[in-house]
Amino acid sequence: MKVSGYTGTFVFLLYLLSYMGFSYALTTPCLLRPSTFGSVCVCNVTYCDFLDPVTPTGVDGFVLTSSSKMGLRFSSLSGKFSDKTVMVKDYGSQSTDAFEPMVMLVNRGNLKTKIQPKVSQRKVKIKVDRNKKFQKVVGFGGAFTGAVSHILETLPQELQDAVYQSFYSKKGIGYTMMRMPIGGSDFDLAPWAYNELPEDDVNLSNFTQLHYLDEKKAKQIEQLKLVSNIDKIKIMATAWSSPKWMKTRKSWNGLSFLRKKYYQTWADYHLRFLEIMEAKNMPIWAISTGNEPLNGVFGWVFIHFMSLGWTPSSQAEWLADNLGPTIRNSKFKDVKIFGNEDQRYTFPFWFKQMNQSRPKSIDYLDGLTMHWYWDEYFGPTLIDETHKLMPDKLLISSESCAGAAPLMKAGVQLGSWERGERYAYSLFEDLQHSFNGYVDWNLILNEQGGPNYVDNVVDAPIIANVTSGQEIYKQPIFYVLGHFSKFIHEGSIRIEAEPSNISILTVAFERPDTGTIACVFFNSAQAEVVVTLADSIRGNIEITIPPKSLHTIEYN
Ligand SMILES: *[C@@H]1O[C@H](CO)[C@@H](O)[C@H](O)[C@H]1NC(C)=O
Ligand SMILES: *[C@@H]1O[C@H](CO)[C@@H](O)[C@H](O)[C@H]1NC(C)=O
Ligand SMILES: *[C@@H]1O[C@H](CO)[C@@H](O)[C@H](O)[C@H]1NC(C)=O
Ligand SMILES: *[C@@H]1O[C@H](CO)[C@@H](O)[C@H](O)[C@H]1NC(C)=O
Ligand SMILES: *[C@@H]1O[C@H](CO)[C@@H](O)[C@H](O)[C@H]1NC(C)=O
Ligand SMILES: *[C@@H]1O[C@H](CO)[C@@H](O)[C@H](O)[C@H]1NC(C)=O
Repeated sequence: MKVSGYTGTFVFLLYLLSYMGFSYALTTPCLLRPSTFGSVCVCNVTYCDFLDPVTPTGVDGFVLTSSSKMGLRFSSLSGKFSDKTVMVKDYGSQSTDAFEPMVMLVNRGNLKTKIQPKVSQRKVKIKVDRNKKFQKVVGFGGAFTGAVSHILETLPQELQDAVYQSFYSKKGIGYTMMRMPIGGSDFDLAPWAYNELPEDDVNLSNFTQLHYLDEKKAKQIEQLKLVSNIDKIKIMATAWSSPKWMKTRKSWNGLSFLRKKYYQTWADYHLRFLEIMEAKNMPIWAISTGNEPLNGVFGWVFIHFMSLGWTPSSQAEWLADNLGPTIRNSKFKDVKIFGNEDQRYTFPFWFKQMNQSRPKSIDYLDGLTMHWYWDEYFGPTLIDETHKLMPDKLLISSESCAGAAPLMKAGVQLGSWERGERYAYSLFEDLQHSFNGYVDWNLILNEQGGPNYVDNVVDAPIIANVTSGQEIYKQPIFYVLGHFSKFIHEGSIRIEAEPSNISILTVAFERPDTGTIACVFFNSAQAEVVVTLADSIRGNIEITIPPKSLHTIEYN
């Protein structure tokens, strides 16, 4: 058969279309499986759910991504503001497509009766005002602990890659940050530090290369970057404890402080870690003054893992006289320093105390990191006060996990939407209160919520089936984090988004890369809600959303 040039072009276009079709098929839906507390998305060596980024087309186009308690997980639909109304169908609702966009141009009241006559109607308006701008976003991430490294090692390469891509690729949830312990943490098979031997070694003569556990981690992170197509990760490194010989009580935990004569050695230890990591092509973006200093002061009564106690005044002294000058006078002078990496109730008191004992100490801090464990008992006004006192310091939530807070059931709850909601509350609250970033705790844990050397088991966004080694389970927590991290890119500026009723929580950002607006909103109610998104430039769109559901809308 003679193929004309014209037909050739046509065939080529067909080929291109089918190729595009194929590449679109990379967007793979969640394989939902019922589990004890709800539903999880299952990945195995040949299957894992991903969502390729889709940009809104045309001036008034939008892309809406939704997850719900019932089972929506990153269901995506595109539309136009000129459609005026859109309905998000919940998972399992009677439709050939569980998430078919439904454009409603008729009287809402009538339609409502037709669809769900028994659900009480609520209407909430979200006013998005692009002229009111707030903080700039640094990023989102999770922690690569010894436990994470250990679990990954037991999984087939395909599943390891699925975990990496799920978190760090654009078709995953687009993390760009990572927290990493310097030495051990409780999420390890045993406590450890660099230069445990020889003791009393002020020159750290045995801290000359990466520990074999970090060597393994570095290789894994190399692979993570490769398969996720990400060349830079903002790594935040934090020490839980110094080697025992540097401490007033020579034990990993309990009431114990750094001995004064090792203040400079402990600063040098941090510098050494920066040097060695950089030599491995793993530059560190930030360090902190140490994990949860109060665990070594009074927290040890309940907490039995590695810690190093500091008071505000001893930390101020070490920071002002040792750590600060050591870092700032080195080639790592631009590495960020964060304090004080503890619970919200220590803010801003801790820094006021530091400032009183060493006025220069807090000048060394680029930012402040906080852990979420007591947030239910200590409201965000403490953050507002802190931000008012030190408006130029970055605020980052650097540890959160379900199943660890006081009075909470320990360990993993497979499929728990409620635990996802807790993250949603925390993310909305933090972002509404000046936070620049959010770094979650362990990326992945086993079915029990470990391994943890003191059995302090907790939940994680992905749980590995280490029994079979053939599956991983993405928890609702994963998607909740993703509703923020996937869409609110580094450099995004928060803009005002005010809901008319508290049954909707919301936060909105302007993205610098695409100029688009990303607005996250959450229906915490047990009922369907009609949300009117009213943007200061784009106008209004009415979105009907199911009970207990979380959404991100992106538009120009
Ligand atoms: C992985 O899951 C998919 C989807 O359920 C299934 O078709 C496939 O057989 C599974 N692969 C393996 C190796 O179990
Ligand atoms: C250096 O540390 C290793 C453990 O990492 C230990 O086996 C070795 O004995 C130490 N060297 C000295 C001289 O203490
Ligand atoms: C540490 O190094 C310094 C300078 O290199 C040296 O003078 C000192 O003796 C060393 N101290 C010990 C305990 O090895
Ligand atoms: C630190 O102390 C100085 C002098 O008392 C005071 O002016 C400043 O506001 C304090 N800063 C903070 C963050 O407490
Ligand atoms: C892990 O896999 C095994 C073998 O397939 C299965 O029996 C077990 O139920 C799985 N665990 C979970 C938590 O799903
Ligand atoms: C929010 O909605 C609920 C239920 O419709 C209503 O009772 C309440 O008054 C509303 N609150 C505000 C602040 O509008």
